[in-house]
Amino acid sequence: MRLIITDQYSGMCQSAAKIIASQITLKPDSVLGLATGSTPIGIYGRLAAWHRDGELDFSQITTVNLDEYYGLAPDNAQSYHYFMTEHLFSKVNLPKGKQYLPDGTNSDAVRECQRYQSLIELLGGVDMQLLGLGHNGHIGFNEPSDAFVKDVHLVDLAEKTIEANKRFFDRVEDVPRQAYTMGIGTIFQAKKILLVVSGAEKADILKRVMYGLICPQVPGSILQLHPNVVVVADKEAAGA
Ligand code: F6R
Repeated sequence: MRLIITDQYSGMCQSAAKIIASQITLKPDSVLGLATGSTPIGIYGRLAAWHRDGELDFSQITTVNLDEYYGLAPDNAQSYHYFMTEHLFSKVNLPKGKQYLPDGTNSDAVRECQRYQSLIELLGGVDMQLLGLGHNGHIGFNEPSDAFVKDVHLVDLAEKTIEANKRFFDRVEDVPRQAYTMGIGTIFQAKKILLVVSGAEKADILKRVMYGLICPQVPGSILQLHPNVVVVADKEAAGA
């Protein structure tokens, strides 16, 4: 794992956005794996600005998101579809038919998981996967558990995740209890992985992910085994 430490959140966003922009420039038809949450917002802002300034073209790019809340439709303001439209899709020239997320409204979990897993395989896999890091070490919504789950699956969200994500909802009761997520194997097949982390409250978990025991109780720790991972962390998250 290669670690890039930046001064603050804005530096982290700038470095990570440059890495993604290089990927797009060097391989204009890349399949990008994307994440939601607070951490990537500034990264998407920079990518959108570079597109606006005529420096970055998304016309041949395909995107596949890590996860989506179970039960939320794309027009629900708390859905990850909505988040992606707001922060990136509406601001760049990414073709509408090439923006993929799990379908949170599909209640047939077996079918939805198979569909999304096969879709990623049909696309030839992900060229670069952007990941955030949960306070409990989750990547995507692969929560701490007794075993790594390989493929796309429907997961029960951990209490810590529900607690952390309630800031996006009016009431904690409104946070969905389940989500569709890429599995650890789905994430692992990405050719390159870019993990972005910000803030002092993530310093302990980032240390465990990068240098601790590789175990399903700290899902992100599996990244130690991937041959091409860049971690971009601000000083606070890196504990520097
Ligand atoms: C989001 C996702 C999650 C987040 C993680 C960190 O698509 O898969 O793993 O990346 O929960 O979220 P923030 O950035 O809000 O701290």
